[in-house]
Amino acid sequence: MSKILHWLVAGLIVLQFILANLAERAEDAGLDLQQLALLANHKSVGISIFMLALLRLAWRKLAPPPELPASMPHWQMLAARISHYLLYTLIILMPISGWLMSSASAYPVSWFKLLQLPDLVAPDAALKESFRVIHQLLGKLLVILASVHILAALKHHFIDKDAVLRRMTSPISMTLFLVVIAAGAATLGRVGNPGAVEKSPAVDEAETVIETPPTVAEPLEEPVPEPVVVRADLPGWQIDHSDSYIHFTASQAGAEFDGAWPNWSAQLRFAGDRLLDSSFDVSIRTAEVSTGDADRDAALADPEWFDAANFPEAYYRASRFTQLEDGSFTADGELFIKGVATPVLFRFSVETNGDDRVLTGSAELLRLELGLGTGEWADTEWVGNEVRVNVRVHASVSGL
Ligand code: HEM
Ligand code: HEM
Repeated sequence: MSKILHWLVAGLIVLQFILANLAERAEDAGLDLQQLALLANHKSVGISIFMLALLRLAWRKLAPPPELPASMPHWQMLAARISHYLLYTLIILMPISGWLMSSASAYPVSWFKLLQLPDLVAPDAALKESFRVIHQLLGKLLVILASVHILAALKHHFIDKDAVLRRMTSPISMTLFLVVIAAGAATLGRVGNPGAVEKSPAVDEAETVIETPPTVAEPLEEPVPEPVVVRADLPGWQIDHSDSYIHFTASQAGAEFDGAWPNWSAQLRFAGDRLLDSSFDVSIRTAEVSTGDADRDAALADPEWFDAANFPEAYYRASRFTQLEDGSFTADGELFIKGVATPVLFRFSVETNGDDRVLTGSAELLRLELGLGTGEWADTEWVGNEVRVNVRVHASVSGL
């Protein structure tokens, strides 16, 4: 068991360096999706190492390692003890620093998309940078310490000719070590959808590349839709923006993250007993988005997403409302993104207190139906298709 755990963790650590290196190369080549996928696998493997390290320490208590050869000088025994403890410390601190870095950068960690780990700290760019530097330094320290460790093991075998290396090896554990590195690098290192990235005509037909319209080079004739018809003199809501929001929840690599569009305006005319006269007319500045990570915010303005240079705003227009049995409502409206209208059902309820109104509601969207995430991003393996939008509007209305 000790041997299996030692070589399994050693193999996974080699794999970690391969995945981190591939992710860095993907970043340099501007392959954002590949970088996202490689880092997601790096995080999952890193969390596995963390769990195995804890298991190893627990197992070590049950089955303590055999004594070192009595022929070894005292200082070498001490050096072996200290370096082993330092190695254990590093395989615990490395995953924790990575987890802290991911939490601080608003990229929650998921373990192979099976389990989402809680964030350890709130998003904070300066904190993220500190943890990144710590993670990097610990990585360098691990390379140095593991190199000394390997050289010491080889010295025991070839120079001292004692049994220290042999007693740590077995056919099963060594096979596991090699299989973890080779199979891990082959499967976890080949991620994303390279066929779609290169936009090569020879895209494998088995791959699910969603057909999306080509990026619009010049603005459409009139991306701003016609305003909704206001059919009666229903007064508009005076919105208190400090107590209102449009939030969304989406997922990357199996972990949910939240975002908000702080800059929006809305003409809301709504009365539960005058549904035929009610209307919603909302404009959202899509590029002004905050998800806790500046790179991700900037990417959302790209042509593959909201194409904010050509279409700075998205619109939601609704004039068909239905009241449900529980007293809540649905708005059967249209969401205009990049000049294309898609029917979107928005469910909401309204609390009334004198002139005060609090509307809370949500809509379940599929980003691909809205043309969000074209090209390589059309692959939903790493960026989920489902997006939930949550809205709260606090307003006052007079004259009803
Ligand atoms: C024993 C486990 C781990 C090892 C050996 C390891 C090692 C590394 C190495 C060598 C790098 C490249 C650093 C550089 O030179 O830029 C790296 C980057 C990174 N690691 Fe880990 N890591 C481990 C666990 C984790 C975990 C558990 C997470 C997150 C949950 C994580 C998240 C990251 C991230 C996000 C980066 C990219 C940092 C950047 O933007 O430069 N790592 N890791
Ligand atoms: C090719 C690479 C490696 C070789 C040849 C190697 C060799 C060895 C050997 C021979 C021992 C047994 C010492 C003894 O019997 O007292 C050992 C123990 C240990 N190795 Fe490695 N190792 C390698 C990689 C690693 C890596 C990457 C780590 C990273 C964490 C690591 C961590 C440890 C620890 C913590 C122990 C102490 C086990 C204990 O006494 O609880 N080894 N290694």
